[in-house]
Amino acid sequence: MELLKRRIIEDGRVLSDQVLSVNTFLNHGVDPVLIAAMGREFAERFRDAGVTRVLTIESSGIAIAFATAAELGVPLVYARRRKALMNEGEYYSERVPSFTKGIVTDIVISKEVLKANDRILFIDDFIANGDAARGALRIVERSGATMVGAGIAIEKAFQSGGSFLREQGIPVLSLARIASLEGGQVRFAEE
Ligand code: G4P
Ligand code: NA
Ligand code: NA
Repeated sequence: MELLKRRIIEDGRVLSDQVLSVNTFLNHGVDPVLIAAMGREFAERFRDAGVTRVLTIESSGIAIAFATAAELGVPLVYARRRKALMNEGEYYSERVPSFTKGIVTDIVISKEVLKANDRILFIDDFIANGDAARGALRIVERSGATMVGAGIAIEKAFQSGGSFLREQGIPVLSLARIASLEGGQVRFAEE
């Protein structure tokens, strides 16, 4: 998606060979015009997939997932980070390591908002090693639902998360695929 790639070049900040900051338009500051355009791209790609629900993980995926769900006319659910006082039997829970934060969290989804007949479109802002996506996929599978696609704003193609999802047979649309962040330079993968 040219609009997103251009924005990454103009406003993204390479923090290391592994990490790109997009704090001014995606992760902290949010550009609603860009986000809405991203929602349209995902909706167009997955329009015929019979999606019944869009799934993301709090917090940075929510805006993009909302835009996508609104375009598709289906509900959105975002997995939450486990806090205390969650009644075990009412939630699916998966342990997920976080690459950027260096910690492990439990992501949880209430059984009230994920059903066995759901066809899930997973949306997220970044995919790195795919730990979050793997956790989300496990919860979807445990619920009996099906993950029919994944829409990722920024895929860091030098990490394995995108490949992992494709190897599971899940169609993946990444709006910007980054081949490398080495030397403080963003290099996009060839399409
Ligand atoms: P993975 O799931 O693909 O393995 O990714 P990882 O655990 O590494 O991601 C941990 C968090 O870091 C995620 O946000 C993810 O969106 C974000 N992330 C991964 N790589 C980058 C990057 O290069 N730049 C930025 N800005 N973020 C990155 P999160 O922990 O779920 O937090 P939230 O921001 O969504 O609340
Ligand atoms: Na995220
Ligand atoms: Na994030």
